[in-house]
Amino acid sequence: MTTISESRFDALLAADERIEPRDEMPEAYRATLIRQIAQHAHSEIIGMQPEGNWLTRAPSLRRKAILLAKVQDEAGHGLYLYAAAETLGVSRTELLDALHTGRQRYSSIFNYPTLTWADVGAIGWLVDGAAIVNQIPLTRCSFGPYARAMVRICQEESFHQRQGYESLHTLARGTEGQRAMAQDAVDRWWWPSLMMFGPPDATSTHSSRSTEWKIKRHSNDELRQRFVDLCVPQAEILGLTLPDADLRWNEQTGHYDYGEIDWAEFKAVLDGDGPCNRQRIERRTQAHRDGQWVRDAAAAYQAKHGQTPAA
Ligand code: ACO
Repeated sequence: MTTISESRFDALLAADERIEPRDEMPEAYRATLIRQIAQHAHSEIIGMQPEGNWLTRAPSLRRKAILLAKVQDEAGHGLYLYAAAETLGVSRTELLDALHTGRQRYSSIFNYPTLTWADVGAIGWLVDGAAIVNQIPLTRCSFGPYARAMVRICQEESFHQRQGYESLHTLARGTEGQRAMAQDAVDRWWWPSLMMFGPPDATSTHSSRSTEWKIKRHSNDELRQRFVDLCVPQAEILGLTLPDADLRWNEQTGHYDYGEIDWAEFKAVLDGDGPCNRQRIERRTQAHRDGQWVRDAAAAYQAKHGQTPAA
């Protein structure tokens, strides 16, 4: 039986208005949003590790400053997103605990290693590029705090994508060794980037409900196709190739056809068996333990001075 608050929820959705934290909402809608926003926040936080790996080895002061700013941006995105999830009635402590104990996921992409400096460029171009394609529609997501957080996040991701592209462009026009390093990075990051969009539509568990609830505005496969179509001409300008012998323009569909994604690899990464899964979680939990004294000090300050922050 439909309750009054559910019909108000349905009416807000039908009018394409935003659901706000104080609005009544079906528990399954709340649970889906907590799952997705938490996974998104965890991805931003874990995503600091692969690039953070190159902070001390950036090839110039300029590249180091850019990378430092970008990694800090990712931390900021994580914090916005945890704050958006908290409006649904879950605490930051619970969310972090779910990450650390493997009860919530983070994006598959951050379980791959950054072997050379060119990986930083490939992550900017491909990983942040895929993130933008996936996240721009989320600025129109039905849940207000998530949609609003995505506006600023997408603006910053756009800068990240361009810095990665520019870095790869420089390498691709450098020495033979630099060009080969850029090509090797693209070869390794291309397929995992396509997996970021999630499983094929036919096996996506949450897509149909998330689409009804206007959390998702496009399917996993639609966004993946959009990403491929954007990347092919960009790769041509870079003078690099994408590692897919089946990639070709299809006159009938008006899109690029692409080869079969290795879904067994995707599943293995989701099951915890990617190249870096264990290392990522170990580093994260260690960082959390190392930060215990900061949380203790903040709690002691709050106990002494109440809620009012220092001037
Ligand atoms: N990595 C890890 N898990 C994934 C991925 C991925 N790339 N894609 C799908 N999954 C998981 C889902 O969480 C779900 O798992 P669960 O049922 O155990 O929770 C399962 O695979 C089935 O997938 P779907 O039913 O298609 O899941 P969903 O409808 O949530 O769609 C998607 C997945 C497209 C990733 C969606 O959650 C989304 O848009 N999230 C927001 C964007 C985001 O999280 N980006 C993070 C990386 S970007 C960055 O940080 C730079």
